[in-house]
Amino acid sequence: MFNFLKSRPVFWASVTGTTVGVAFFIKDLMQGEKFNNSIKAENKVVIVTGANTGIGKETVLELARRGATVYMACRDMQKCEEAREEIVLETFNKHVYCRQCDLASLESIRKFADNFKKNSNVWIFLSTTLA
Ligand SMILES: NC(=O)c1ccc[n+]([C@@H]2O[C@H](COP(=O)([O-])OP(=O)(O)OC[C@H]3O[C@@H](n4cnc5c(N)ncnc54)[C@H](OP(=O)(O)O)[C@@H]3O)[C@@H](O)[C@H]2O)c1
Repeated sequence: MFNFLKSRPVFWASVTGTTVGVAFFIKDLMQGEKFNNSIKAENKVVIVTGANTGIGKETVLELARRGATVYMACRDMQKCEEAREEIVLETFNKHVYCRQCDLASLESIRKFADNFKKNSNVWIFLSTTLA
């Protein structure tokens, strides 16, 4: 049986093709649909943590594109400012701000929160810093 399979390149090619096809199909299925809604966020004020890179930065970019006012909560203000500059240049939305917040420090979180206590306009808090 092994020798039979060894001399069947077409069989192996079709197994490989099917495996790759099924893998792509499953990946496609798991991803769900792409969010293409052009909904605007002009009157929204959003705080995003972990905003200088990765998912957080992409979130800020998309919200800024949609016109939201975004506060980027980052522990490293230099990295935050660099990311903010990129986002403002790309989206032409100047209502993107940097605020210092180290989520590993309760003191830093309290200080950060105190600055927003009087700002009842904050609509959404998005934390992309899970670990
Ligand atoms: N990327 C994915 O596909 C994916 C999928 C599922 C789940 N996740 C999870 O989602 C989270 C974000 O993923 P990511 O890919 O965006 O990660 P990332 O690129 O490493 O970004 C993490 C962000 O969190 C910030 N951060 C870390 N510790 C912090 C602290 N103590 N205070 C304030 N900010 C802090 C980092 O700031 P610094 O730059 O200063 O370090 C950075 O901006 C992670 O927990 C990850 O495990 C990611």
